[in-house]
Amino acid sequence: MKNNQMPYYFDYHAHAPIDPRVKDAMMRAFDNVDANPHSTHIHGTHAYDGVERARAQIAQLLGAKPSEVVLTSGATEANNLAFAGMADHFDAQGRNQLLVSSIEHASVSEAAGSLKKRGFEVVMVPPEPDGRITAETFASRISPRTGLVSVGWANHEIGTVQDISAISKLARSHGALVHSDLAQAAGKVAVDAKLLDLASVSAHKMHGPVGIGALFVTRRLRAKMKPHLIGGGQEGGLRSGTVSAPMATGFGTACELSSAEFVDEAERVSSLRDKLLHRLSSIPDSSVNGFSVMRSTSSLFMHRPGLHRWPRWLPIFGTVS
Ligand SMILES: Cc1ncc(COP(=O)(O)O)c(C=O)c1O
Repeated sequence: MKNNQMPYYFDYHAHAPIDPRVKDAMMRAFDNVDANPHSTHIHGTHAYDGVERARAQIAQLLGAKPSEVVLTSGATEANNLAFAGMADHFDAQGRNQLLVSSIEHASVSEAAGSLKKRGFEVVMVPPEPDGRITAETFASRISPRTGLVSVGWANHEIGTVQDISAISKLARSHGALVHSDLAQAAGKVAVDAKLLDLASVSAHKMHGPVGIGALFVTRRLRAKMKPHLIGGGQEGGLRSGTVSAPMATGFGTACELSSAEFVDEAERVSSLRDKLLHRLSSIPDSSVNGFSVMRSTSSLFMHRPGLHRWPRWLPIFGTVS
């Protein structure tokens, strides 16, 4: 840290600072579409158009249809809605077992765990020593009672990118739904909603504003989902509450920029990461955790013995230098 400057900020898993172009788009939106998008007057109609433009931009990044995007306050809410919203459907199908990767963000593991009191069996599926959760590990646990398989596309602590295609194929061959938390993947690595039935996204992990996110839910499932916030019936009845057109505009713009730029950006960031790794590797006893190939380009997880802030699940890992 120099003089009175702030320290360098590297933790883009926790929050990626807002892109100035996103901020500009939001400022314009505060001037042009600052109205209730659910009102039928002209101001409301403009705000509505802004929200629907954003929904289309979000859908495009995910490879989804706009009608499959439910706006929420972030990925935490989207994860909660995915589990709580589908519970009745799983019950009705006699599928009360949930298979959840054991290295998920708390908003997934706790949303799943909260269904135990409703009689669900929640099976935590462990990773390999390098951070991958394999389809084979799910295969030994999946059964006709499995309602949902949930695994994050990119891990929020060590950045491992999972083989969602293989996991999705396995889950669907057993009639189970597939959920993925895309909070650390969308806008950083290629994602494909066609492999998924439910997925959660957060704007502020991809240089958008804090406080908005989305749940992707297929049209077939929308009718079966129960809302967890009730009231005005916004978002097709799945998430009541006035949608902020300026916030949606920021999220949509971040998605549009990511769609256009993430391939080049991934190359740029991974070369910076490799330089950083090279420099930090000279620190005695340091090592890198996580599979070195299938790893989000923006992630570098290193440790030195004795340092704290250790992911709760890492003791079961070996280290990969
Ligand atoms: C993988 C993952 N899921 C969910 C969240 C929560 O996202 P939000 O802040 O949008 O609620 C985070 C944030 O740290 C995350 O890393």
